[in-house]
Amino acid sequence: MKPLTKAIFPVAGLGTRFLPATKAQPKEMLTVIDKPLIQFAVEEAIAAGVTQLIFVTGRTKRAIADHFDATPELDRLLREKGRETVAEELRTIIPPHVTCIYIRQPEALGLGHAVHCAAPLIGDDEPFAVLLADDLMRGDPPVLAQMAEVQRATGRSVLAVNPVPLEDIGSYGVVAAQDPGEGGSAPVTDMVEKPPKGEAPSNLAVVGRYILRPEVMGVLATLPPGRGGEIQLTDAIRQLIPGTGVEAFRYRGRRYDCGSKMGFLEATVDMGLEHPDYGPQLRAHLRSSLGA
Ligand code: G1P
Repeated sequence: MKPLTKAIFPVAGLGTRFLPATKAQPKEMLTVIDKPLIQFAVEEAIAAGVTQLIFVTGRTKRAIADHFDATPELDRLLREKGRETVAEELRTIIPPHVTCIYIRQPEALGLGHAVHCAAPLIGDDEPFAVLLADDLMRGDPPVLAQMAEVQRATGRSVLAVNPVPLEDIGSYGVVAAQDPGEGGSAPVTDMVEKPPKGEAPSNLAVVGRYILRPEVMGVLATLPPGRGGEIQLTDAIRQLIPGTGVEAFRYRGRRYDCGSKMGFLEATVDMGLEHPDYGPQLRAHLRSSLGA
């Protein structure tokens, strides 16, 4: 297997959990402080050694492609105004060794279908990452880089998992695996997409980071629709278990579900409090608002 150099960002989803904000704007362009969710995911991928960013996009998502384009007029204007630091920041969002590729998913037929839209770009000796940008992951080293380490060591597909309360388990893909403890990984023996409460094989939920072996593309090509009538990535990964194997990895770090309003608020507050410019003011503001 080649090393990990490709990442797929399925960004064609409609973001109905975040209306009205996402009525005319991609959910991936919602910003935590000043950075869109998709840029956090892209930075995480680049930090893990990815050099080809493959966006599976759809109608109303043009802002994402625009965001990653060079902007020579803006660059010139900023430099004329002496704002070189901001100009440099914008120029280096996509470093010169990284390429963006855009593919359309003509119809929203499920996450598995979205990933399979990128199949022509994945060689049969290439592992690839899948990042769901509405899961904002924070870790040191970044979560995808932690996963790439496990992928290199085991040669298997690797799923980021996290224990969740059983009342929430029906919102996730769930693995059957021993809990490896934070920072550890364990072989997956089965997995199921959004099981009804009581039928979940564990409390370990898959969050939106995957490193998959290329064989999964062949599985997706003929996979029938699963839960919710959609072509499910979980169902395809399940078929890799008896062959090349799948590892559940409990990343070190924190996930914010920024596809939900509450998760987004938590990310904004936590990252605001850590912000070098705004942290102290925000802390004072929150204290006064809470009367504490
Ligand atoms: C998708 C996957 C699910 C996974 C989740 C993580 O679901 O289908 O297996 O646990 O992402 O965020 P979605 O949230 O898109 O319905």
